[in-house]
Amino acid sequence: MSLIIKIFFGFLGLVVIIGLTQCKTEKSVDSGETTPTEPGVSFEKSAYGTTQEGEPVDMYSLKNAQGMQVDVITYGGIITSWTAPDKNGAYENVVLGYDSLSQYIAGNPYFGALIGRFGNRIAKGKFSIDGTEYSLATNDGPNHLHGGVKGYDKVIWTAAEPVVDSNAVSLKLSYLSKDMEEGYPGNLKIDVTYTLNADNSLDVLYEATTDKATIVNLTQHSYFNLTGDFTKTILDHEIVLNADHFLPVDATLIPTGELMDVAGTPFDFRLPKTIGKEIVAEHDQLTKGLGYDHCWVLNSQDVGDRLVASAYDPGSGRFLEIWSDEPAIQFYSGNFLDGTLPMKGGEGTYAHRTGFCLETQHYPDSPNQPDFPPVRLDPGDKYVSYTSFKFSTK
Ligand code: GLA
Repeated sequence: MSLIIKIFFGFLGLVVIIGLTQCKTEKSVDSGETTPTEPGVSFEKSAYGTTQEGEPVDMYSLKNAQGMQVDVITYGGIITSWTAPDKNGAYENVVLGYDSLSQYIAGNPYFGALIGRFGNRIAKGKFSIDGTEYSLATNDGPNHLHGGVKGYDKVIWTAAEPVVDSNAVSLKLSYLSKDMEEGYPGNLKIDVTYTLNADNSLDVLYEATTDKATIVNLTQHSYFNLTGDFTKTILDHEIVLNADHFLPVDATLIPTGELMDVAGTPFDFRLPKTIGKEIVAEHDQLTKGLGYDHCWVLNSQDVGDRLVASAYDPGSGRFLEIWSDEPAIQFYSGNFLDGTLPMKGGEGTYAHRTGFCLETQHYPDSPNQPDFPPVRLDPGDKYVSYTSFKFSTK
């Protein structure tokens, strides 16, 4: 055989061998040996209750194959329960909530709820757009808080049929907030999509459009206690906030406008620090907030989605990371919990500092503070905000 023919047959042999190997690989994948054929995520829908006005409220339980389950009700878009694994793989609920719709309606400090049209405070409930002044309810001392008397935490959201794909289950909740509802101008069409992923993260995507210039600042108000035991305080949780500055407040919790350096203050959470370590330190801002109830100005505001905060409970090993494209985060250490609200499970009450909130958002009172990032939404523009909560253990 000439050299050319030998090379030809050699090449042919190689092609046949590669072909056979590929067939083998494909066959093993096809037979499901290496790739799970089930998506591993699912949902269940159930009736949760009826409001006093006779409106039905549904619950959607989003589940993944690892064992995470997020229960969302259409009243307030509230997450009533959210299970996460500890270092031994045990899944337990890690968010404060109630057992029934009537308890949520009777009085809820925003446990697990969607917040809007403007999350956090607006001084004296007043703001102007293009020279027109708008007046909102003053439902927090002299100020407006979390959208007013009937904010988005107290309305019924319309749920679309959840979408299940190979690694995620998504629940889209929609609400039309009418022009001048709670005093805000413009019909605001809002979609909030909760997506539970196979990797134990929950994404929250907020989208909104308006037909008149308005202001928007949406957030999620879950109270976490990563111990899974709500009789324990959250003081031993180690928190990280990727922020070099926070917003000092006046006695009514409205930002003064100053950006205060966290260095050398109890507000420095750039390295892991327990909530309890300095919460009772002598600091005028801790006195005003009755603890931590402040907005941290997050670093790297121009990069979009990035890691902004984390919380770790050394006892259980539960670790929560928060990713967001928002410029700020309100860290609230459950200072108003006072042992009067009934605990989920029917026994006991939620004592002082048994839950904390990490609410991604724009700065409080932004509509009245021109140096703060803008919160105005105009017709033709789209409000888009994204936050992801990722659980793991260490
Ligand atoms: C927010 C506020 C707190 C408090 C809670 C709800 O986080 O910043 O001051 O109102 O909501 O009790």
